[in-house]
Amino acid sequence: MSRKIAIYPGSFDPPTKGHLDLIARGSRIFDELVVAILRNPDKTPLFSVDERKEMIELLTSGYKNVRVDTFEGLTVDYATRLRATAVLRGIRAISDYEYELQMALMNRKLQPSLETVFMMPAEHYSYISSRLVREIAAMGGPIGALVPGLIEQRMRAKFGTTGRRNGKPKSRASQSKREPSKRGRSKTATGKVDL
Ligand code: PNS
Repeated sequence: MSRKIAIYPGSFDPPTKGHLDLIARGSRIFDELVVAILRNPDKTPLFSVDERKEMIELLTSGYKNVRVDTFEGLTVDYATRLRATAVLRGIRAISDYEYELQMALMNRKLQPSLETVFMMPAEHYSYISSRLVREIAAMGGPIGALVPGLIEQRMRAKFGTTGRRNGKPKSRASQSKREPSKRGRSKTATGKVDL
């Protein structure tokens, strides 16, 4: 029987406890799970792709069937190159559904043999999003319940405890440049919440 390979694509900027919960669940139902970090030239992330890759590798080192990779371009093309048969995505709340459904159906249109599998993280992680974690950390708020300890340390190293990044106060402009709020889109248009 062929090995079932799934990719778990995303931005993971930063990886949260919700992401880790989903990786744990995905690793139990697929033979191989590839956490695939999108290289997105249109975004200025908080953590570089290499930093995110290293952090997720450290956090998932206990899973024999999980590996971390990066990709550019279409998710379906990347999945095809890996001979993956499924795309894993998390749905935390009904507000995620519309955007995720649209993406899943578009991916199915592009590559009919690729299935999207939705899983729900533990309900106590359902309010966590990378965007909110960044916002809270940038303002010196507590993020220990939201991200693994390693990520908390790395974020503190970026922001300090004052919400200043690299010694400079973070301006609204630089914040919105870093990540156009998907939720902004989402609340009015698609309902997607940034994971
Ligand atoms: O963690 P995110 O930011 O919600 O992940 C979104 C991601 C990376 C899964 C999505 O933007 C994506 O698949 N991008 C790759 C380009 C692509 O395939 N676009 C068409 C999607 S239907």
